[in-house]
Amino acid sequence: MLISASIALRPRTRPGSVRAVARIGIIGAGYVGLCTGVALTRHGHRVTLVDTSPERLDSIRRGRPPFHEPGLDSALKRAIRVKRLRLADAAGASVPQTEATFLCVGTPPRDGGAVDLTQVESAARDVGRALRARKGYHLVLVKSTVPPGTVENVVRPILERASGKPAGSRFGVVSNPEFLKEGAALTDAFAPDRIVIGASEPAGARAAWRLYAKHRCPRISTTPRTAETIKYAANAFLAAKIALSNELANVCERIGVDWYDVAPAIGHDPRIGPLFLRAGMGFGGSCFPKDIAALRAVARSSQVSTGMLDALLDQNARQPLEVARMLREELGSLRGKRIALLGLSFKPNTDDVRETRSLPLLKALVREGAVVVAHDPRAMNNFRTLASEFVAATSAADALRGADAAAFATEWPEYKALRPSLVRSLMRSPIVVDGRRSVDAGKMRTGGIRYRAIGLGEA
Ligand code: UGA
Repeated sequence: MLISASIALRPRTRPGSVRAVARIGIIGAGYVGLCTGVALTRHGHRVTLVDTSPERLDSIRRGRPPFHEPGLDSALKRAIRVKRLRLADAAGASVPQTEATFLCVGTPPRDGGAVDLTQVESAARDVGRALRARKGYHLVLVKSTVPPGTVENVVRPILERASGKPAGSRFGVVSNPEFLKEGAALTDAFAPDRIVIGASEPAGARAAWRLYAKHRCPRISTTPRTAETIKYAANAFLAAKIALSNELANVCERIGVDWYDVAPAIGHDPRIGPLFLRAGMGFGGSCFPKDIAALRAVARSSQVSTGMLDALLDQNARQPLEVARMLREELGSLRGKRIALLGLSFKPNTDDVRETRSLPLLKALVREGAVVVAHDPRAMNNFRTLASEFVAATSAADALRGADAAAFATEWPEYKALRPSLVRSLMRSPIVVDGRRSVDAGKMRTGGIRYRAIGLGEA
């Protein structure tokens, strides 16, 4: 059922014919779907966002994103106000009236790391059925992160079966992976650093590039399977940079060197680059851990050994425990100690707690008998769905009050702004272990705080 006003459309029949300002459907109003949709409206496209959750649609219709993402609130309201965004609860209300459909549904992990494609399959079926009634050419772009071969071997056959039409002249299907970073997703969607289109037919590639006619960035045209692989390879590479930085930082801490002096120096080498060398408690979020596990499953099913990917995940699992170790070294035993845990989201500027490193840290502290008082400016409610063995603080100061030590686990700006004098006055013993190098070590130390951090050696 179409939920807001419909937009008239002139059907086009020439294969690959999609207007530069197009009517676009997006299946899945989650993180990727909503941010991509809103960004596409800023490029002039008219977007129909399709989701099966009435609550989610309701919230979006009222201009309230169902998750926190900087700038999304106002961009969403604007898209609705200028009537470039409408909502629907089924692909059938969108596909017949649009020229292209992005699949942006979830691809959660199964046990063992392989990807659960149920939502992709079901979305492809819905779009395929709706294609029966579509007169002109229609392009399907798969944005969901899927294992190499999915577009060709899963999505395309489902679309063909459900629509009763062969892919090619009546519709096209391409891979178009997303590279959005939470916290900067709107900018990444509006002005990406590259666009990858994996198409097996020229008509599909042509139609896809028409949609991105206004984007100025490197464009990569390739096969669907290569495009799907590019997404996994990018995330594996970025996660490897973090894991190696963490391991080197742990060495630095033990040998009296500061990794945060080493990292910028090696970053001047263009072969290394300065970004993603921030050592900390490891990588969390909905992408890196899941995508590396999925890539590992793909590799194993092709009998490729995965020592590097295994090592990445192992290193990442161990890294939050470095903070627990430093707390233990400072306090002797953690039994009965009150620890302030500052930061629960997997990174700042989001309320997302998926795979947050704060969870294994919390579990480790509680296992050793500590009483954990936790705070996060945005993610308290989401974190409560993962764990209950903590006392919820209403502010950073509330968490720090009477604490024997504090662990900084997410580098929120408000934690960076904490004055050492305030921290010292609130805590029972002013010990801070910084899992994210959130604050200035020198300021903390001259302010009377016993300050330790990942990668910060004491000469
Ligand atoms: C990541 C990628 O950065 C995006 O390019 C990709 O599109 C996205 O996954 C995806 O696959 O959809 P995201 O998970 O939003 O984006 O967040 P990042 O900013 O990459 O951070 C991931 C984790 O790595 C966070 O826990 C962060 O704290 C950690 N990190 C990041 C570090 O520990 N050190 C760094 O130097 C950078």
